[in-house]
Amino acid sequence: MTDNNRVVVLLSGSGTTLQAILDQQSQYSYEVVGVLSNRPDAFGLERAGKAGVESLSLDHKLYPSRELFDLELMKHIDAYKPDLVVLAGYMRILSSAFVEHYQGKLINIHPSLLPKHKGLNTYQSALDAGDSEHGTSVHFVTEELDSGSVVMQAALEITPSDTAQTLEQRVKVMEHHLYPKAIDWIVSGRIALQDDVISLDKKPLGPQGYRIPETSIVTEK
Ligand code: GAR
Repeated sequence: MTDNNRVVVLLSGSGTTLQAILDQQSQYSYEVVGVLSNRPDAFGLERAGKAGVESLSLDHKLYPSRELFDLELMKHIDAYKPDLVVLAGYMRILSSAFVEHYQGKLINIHPSLLPKHKGLNTYQSALDAGDSEHGTSVHFVTEELDSGSVVMQAALEITPSDTAQTLEQRVKVMEHHLYPKAIDWIVSGRIALQDDVISLDKKPLGPQGYRIPETSIVTEK
């Protein structure tokens, strides 16, 4: 177990990503110390409770501005003294102050092979674009939406029978293996970010980060 392993997870919805992170915690070196949601009805809060992890919801609708909401959120996050803040389906644009405050220790998972298909509805966008592959990316968060250095990607081949729904299901399976591994590699210091370049075990990685194919996503450790 490393010392710098305290993880706070932010979410807005069902929390299947959080569940995967919690389920694999015993295999890895991170510890989820708190879960926060901007939506009081997010099912992810119940998942945290079942796992015995402290959770809190702050309803963003009750704050007059994004900046004030984020300031309050930062106060609660910082109380957990996190080493890494993990966005797991946190569907809210972050203020500049928030991103700056957690620079280098804030990551997100986005369901596309970035820099392709930023924003919402990535599955349909990939189909509409006639892409032969789709996937998911873990990246450090910067001010620009779904940008920032890519830590890891997992890719799958799109088949003629794929729909947006089947792609989502297939990508989520990959995400649930990719994200816990990425979190572990970051808190354990295997992955490092310096001057926007990601390195793994001190070797610089390319713009796609560490790339895992679908065929080895479940088995690779
Ligand atoms: C995940 O698929 C994640 O990649 C996506 O939200 C889903 C959350 O699922 N995130 C984004 O689109 C961020 N741009 P969950 O609520 O079941 O964990």
